[in-house]
Amino acid sequence: MSSAEPSFVPISVVRLPHTAERAVVDVLRSGRLAQGEQVAAFEEEFAALHGVPHAVAVNSGTAALVGALSALGIGPGDEVLTTPFSFVATVNAILAVGARPCFVDIGDSDFGLDPAAVEAAITPATAAILVVHLFGQCADMRSLTAVAQRHGLAVVEDAAQAHGARFGRTSAGAFGVGCFSFYGTKNLTTGEGGMVTTRDSALADRLRLLRNHGMASRYEYVRAGHNWRLTDLAAAIGRAQLPHYDDVVARRTANAAALTAGLDDLDELLLPVEQPGRRHVWHQYTVQVRDGRRDELATGLAGRGVGSAVHYPTVLADLDHVAGVARGADAVPTSRRCAQSVLSIPVHHHLSEPDIERIVWATRDALRPNHR
Ligand SMILES: Cc1ncc(COP(=O)(O)O)c(C=O)c1O
Repeated sequence: MSSAEPSFVPISVVRLPHTAERAVVDVLRSGRLAQGEQVAAFEEEFAALHGVPHAVAVNSGTAALVGALSALGIGPGDEVLTTPFSFVATVNAILAVGARPCFVDIGDSDFGLDPAAVEAAITPATAAILVVHLFGQCADMRSLTAVAQRHGLAVVEDAAQAHGARFGRTSAGAFGVGCFSFYGTKNLTTGEGGMVTTRDSALADRLRLLRNHGMASRYEYVRAGHNWRLTDLAAAIGRAQLPHYDDVVARRTANAAALTAGLDDLDELLLPVEQPGRRHVWHQYTVQVRDGRRDELATGLAGRGVGSAVHYPTVLADLDHVAGVARGADAVPTSRRCAQSVLSIPVHHHLSEPDIERIVWATRDALRPNHR
């Protein structure tokens, strides 16, 4: 191995454009660190990127989800249909507003909710569908929005991992109420942060109240609220990345294509696929490993200098704090199989060609040590 070869290829690398440093220094020097002009500009730019009239910045993706459900008036007595194959914040948001999670299975070609299963799970108590656009690819929004319309249900999109993803010509976050995260390792990051997108101006107004103590104007409180405000420091960091975001997605897309080209003859793996008509933004490149060999592959990759991660090892329906209150845990076989078999390997936009070669070689060598 030559000294030019990377010693370890991590699952994610955070390296921001140098313009972010300048932008942060400008905010520091302005003396206004809390929510102000930078947040307002970030909201406007983010809304434009997703083709929606309103974006409301908050301080996490979790706050975005809780805020979206609250602003829709969802609470005790309501059921929310969702996937058990997601990050825990998806279900915690439903619990936080006092509603009941009802789990529905996914398809393993896009890891998104199965529309037929969603329709079959609707009861008179169902108020909303909380769709997750997992790993950077939209769920089947044509079918899911049709189901929601037929039954008069709200659609909330957990687009925490799907900034700029599209289904047809429509962006993630533009079908229903979109909830994005800017957590430290997301494609777009402000360290911590979130955004809600909507076409509904009254809902956007309610969210602005909710994020700021229910305050309509100074010390005029019109409802109970929270402190979910994003800082101008964070917004400046986010804004600095927006002009480069298409390049970020293009790099991730090229990396995903190179991984697929290097691995697609391996029948030990089921590789992720960008579904026709969708724009995948490749937050993760998540393979399904057959025959119970997932953990063996993860260990083999680590030994060959490649990071990987299991997103996610447990279905949400089985978590102790969820199991007692939710329904649907017994009808999610695909989610359970994915939780046993998935492994994410590096696809981030800072990978070099030698990094990609390393990942492909390490994956092949870990699975087939005698067949180089
Ligand atoms: C699918 C999903 N939903 C929700 C969240 C919550 O976002 P945050 O960590 O910004 O609260 C995340 C990210 O962490 C996520 O990946």
